[in-house]
Amino acid sequence: MDQQKLIALLMQREYVSGEWISAQLGITRAGVWKAVEALRQSGWAVESAHRRGYRLVPPEGAVWPSRIRACLNARWAGQRIDYYDRIDSTNRAASALGALDPALAPHGTLVIADEQTAGRGRMNRVWQSRPGSAALFSLLLRPQALPPAEATNIVLAAALAVCDACRALGADALIKWPNDIVCGGKKVCGMLLDMSADMDLVRFAVAGIGVNVADYPRADDLRHATCLNEAAGRRVDRAEAVARILEAFERWYDAWIAGGAQAILPAYAERCVTIGSRVQVSGLRETFEGQALRLTEDGSLIVLRDGAGETAVRAGDVSVRGVMGYV
Ligand code: BTN
Repeated sequence: MDQQKLIALLMQREYVSGEWISAQLGITRAGVWKAVEALRQSGWAVESAHRRGYRLVPPEGAVWPSRIRACLNARWAGQRIDYYDRIDSTNRAASALGALDPALAPHGTLVIADEQTAGRGRMNRVWQSRPGSAALFSLLLRPQALPPAEATNIVLAAALAVCDACRALGADALIKWPNDIVCGGKKVCGMLLDMSADMDLVRFAVAGIGVNVADYPRADDLRHATCLNEAAGRRVDRAEAVARILEAFERWYDAWIAGGAQAILPAYAERCVTIGSRVQVSGLRETFEGQALRLTEDGSLIVLRDGAGETAVRAGDVSVRGVMGYV
């Protein structure tokens, strides 16, 4: 009997019936009982309740699927949840699932980890976080008939979702274009969109989200970071944070699918600290300063360049005066 398989099943729901475990593992009910006993002998706390089944007791604040599901009210976001104590990158794992049959890894599959050993950030940067201190997850999306050029709207929906969830959790959050979430001028969350597409269609997309919850990296180049606990002034449960983000993401994503960019752009602009601010743009080819004016339908930022006309910024870093150390 593979103990890891049993542990993974028990982590899925608060209570798991012996019948379900026996069907999943292809062993008898007596075999399940023996396997659970062996787990207890190795130090795992497993409770049993009449008619409900077995419960693997989670540590406080764990991001196990059972804890997320217990407070999640969503239709498709998180319908499959893969949890890892430790993984290289949840975006890498979710992308691998994207290549599988959608029946196995459906739209809304969530990959979540307690720790990443090779977390990736935008522009080929690394994304660091101390084990157990952040919500690190990736959502697999299977949009129907979506041209690649419109996929950037997924990032806008994700930014809206995290911003709203942070506010619901008590933090005064704003969006820094395109997808940083800042509280009190410091970054609390970053997002990374990966996708697989041909010329005409997106096959699947992966929205990777990293939220500093209990702590944040203190490296010199990250001194403009904060965490949800600090911003909200209370201890935020990571599983609750993930559930609130998934619920908000499902709402904004569905609104975009139903109504197009116009269904999300006004809400995004209202929460975006970049629009109307003085900005410094470090693009892929050049650096310039100006005034950020508005967004286009595809989510590009229109900047009025100093001494020149309007430019549409699609990629690159945009520093906002007064935010994350830009003075
Ligand atoms: C950024 O601000 O540069 C984006 C950071 C994105 C980090 C998240 S953590 C979960 C997911 N897995 C990764 O490897 N990256 C994203």
